Amino acid sequence: MNKVERLMQSMTLEEKLGQLNLVTAGRMITGPTVGGDATEDIRAGRVGGVFNLWGREAVANAQRLAVEETRLGVPLLFGLDILHGHRTIFPIPIAEAGIFDPLIWERTARAAALEAACEGINMTFAPMLDIARDPRWGRIAEGPGEDPFLGAKFAEAKIRGFQGGDLSQRTSIAAVAKHFCAYGAAPAGRDYAAVDISDRSLHETYLPPFVAAVAAGCAAIMTAFNSVNGAPMTSNRALVRDFLRGKLGFDGVIISDYTAIAELIEHGVAGDLVEAAALALKAGVDMDMVSGAYLRCLPEALSRGFVDLGDIDAAVDRVLRLKQRLGLFDDPYRFASETEQDKQASRELALETARRAITLLVNRGVLPLANELRHVAVIGPLANARADMLGPWSAVGAAQNCVTILEGLVAALPRADIRFHEGVSIAGDDAEGIAPACAVAREAEVVILCLGESASMSGEAACRATPGLPGRQRELAEAVLATGAAVVAVIASGRPLTAPWLVERARATVAMWFLGDMAGRAIADVLTGRINPSGRLAVTWPHDVGQVPIFYASRSTGRPPDADDPFTSRYLDLPTAPLFSFGHGLSYSRVELTNLRVDRNEFHAGENIEVTADATNAGKMATEETIFLFIRDRVAIVARPIMELKAWAKAMLAPGETKTVAFALSSDSFSFPGEDFAPVIEPGEFDILVGLNAERANLLSVRVLFRDSAGDA
Ligand code: GLC
Repeated sequence: MNKVERLMQSMTLEEKLGQLNLVTAGRMITGPTVGGDATEDIRAGRVGGVFNLWGREAVANAQRLAVEETRLGVPLLFGLDILHGHRTIFPIPIAEAGIFDPLIWERTARAAALEAACEGINMTFAPMLDIARDPRWGRIAEGPGEDPFLGAKFAEAKIRGFQGGDLSQRTSIAAVAKHFCAYGAAPAGRDYAAVDISDRSLHETYLPPFVAAVAAGCAAIMTAFNSVNGAPMTSNRALVRDFLRGKLGFDGVIISDYTAIAELIEHGVAGDLVEAAALALKAGVDMDMVSGAYLRCLPEALSRGFVDLGDIDAAVDRVLRLKQRLGLFDDPYRFASETEQDKQASRELALETARRAITLLVNRGVLPLANELRHVAVIGPLANARADMLGPWSAVGAAQNCVTILEGLVAALPRADIRFHEGVSIAGDDAEGIAPACAVAREAEVVILCLGESASMSGEAACRATPGLPGRQRELAEAVLATGAAVVAVIASGRPLTAPWLVERARATVAMWFLGDMAGRAIADVLTGRINPSGRLAVTWPHDVGQVPIFYASRSTGRPPDADDPFTSRYLDLPTAPLFSFGHGLSYSRVELTNLRVDRNEFHAGENIEVTADATNAGKMATEETIFLFIRDRVAIVARPIMELKAWAKAMLAPGETKTVAFALSSDSFSFPGEDFAPVIEPGEFDILVGLNAERANLLSVRVLFRDSAGDA
């Protein structure tokens, strides 16, 4: 009999329920040690895990209570929301996804895991895998953007990075993929709102990153706050028990979101906390984050026959097995050694990641900044905003570690006279600084206009119905533009901001998102040309919120948009196309794609198609180019998206260099969820589309034919 089986046999009901109770240190632990009623709860074996507590001493103190002062000595889990760094803060996920490089995604997660494991953390509530196509939703900042294929690759890389090859290693932490599922489909971009979408959308768009996370071995999954088609995810048997556990075979721990079990009452599916606890447990949720419903109400649910002891034992068994996989029974104090982390290497990685996440949206010849520049104005509320560079969910990151845009530019342009003026606050109603800011602009050869959001304007519970520039920033920008200065607009935000008027009039526009500790150095390196920008948009950038939801992989319609035909899917008052498409991003070079070809025009299941194209750097700077491969299924049993991302490749090109870029496309890439949502490939024609972004008109295209085993096309 192994340790877990022995514990299961020994535990009282209350001790079992304690293992399902996940509490936050924010409410229970005061100061450097456990305090208040928490001490008694832990000593009584009523706590299975704590989150929002870190630091070797504080964690050791809490762990000691569990290991040495409880009857059975079951160690605690220690969780934290480590999404883009623990102490060293990397770019927010929506920015990092735009690097389109699974290796760097893995590296930043590994670096974060190491820093966290040194401080006693053994579980992170990440990666966040919610596909999002609405910039009004503040949590778009936390995830991999709009595309399920990109989301799946992001999931795999992050789970590898956090969990390492072996969870029992003290430098590994359990990844909790979240929020299962379709949280990003919130109507009108309003957080926590009830989601109503088709099963087809679920299987084509919102589930694939979680399917990938399960296949990648993620240790745990967190259910989402929202309901899907009337069934709250916290008690959604069809999606949690039947699909996640049943169909995908996920046998890891499922954790509710914060008080979400209690919220089943507000959802209107539970009459009281006893019913709520029973519904969640029966759906397959193992740990109750903060609501206390499992600890307090499952005994009554058991006595009233709402749940069986087997349901409870199954949940406890999974929690104990996670602790066993983490090696906590062998070494409850399995802290990574400080000597195992290289803080300098982490900061260099933060700089590399930040540099590559920056997305050059428009450049009308003003970038890179000329070395001869002697008078530069740095204006705007984000220019010297230190803490905001961390972005939302910055774990234990600290503002004092961040380099501001102004500091980065001063260091990068030592011979220039750099004048700074904030102009206006980020979101306030102040305008008195606009005139003096314009006076500074008039004295300069170029103005770096730093605009955008505060870190708290995206992330959880940070939705904006009008995702433009907040406060009086537009007035500032228009006044600075009116001086006639050459303006480079730098936008720091957690979402695409709708400001077409700015993009139209500035000489260049750069999306820097929230880049973390090394923000200022990275943006200065890109603006001065020390680094050739290579970031690409992981999410479509709309002209206006009126276009939202807007994304490249829209399903075909019988009347696709046609500016020359009024009876097509278009607006009278806005363009149908976005301001910038998925995958958009410029560099200081110019790459041309030619000669798209395939090694076969017909293929069968199990066969690969070799797709190649030639990429030429027609610019004067070496460049990192991302080349996308989409497919279009021309005829199928259901209308397919007009394009679907199926691969991307990187081409590192010296000036004038031409390289052949190759994709080995498996036949699986042509499958889609069939009528029962199992993957099918239908005989028939497919277009393979290759290009530098999702703008259909710019893609090279070749047609191939899939024949099924009977040879039918
Ligand atoms: C929050 C978030 C979730 C996070 C959890 C713990 O409400 O929804 O993403 O992991 O609580 O902080």
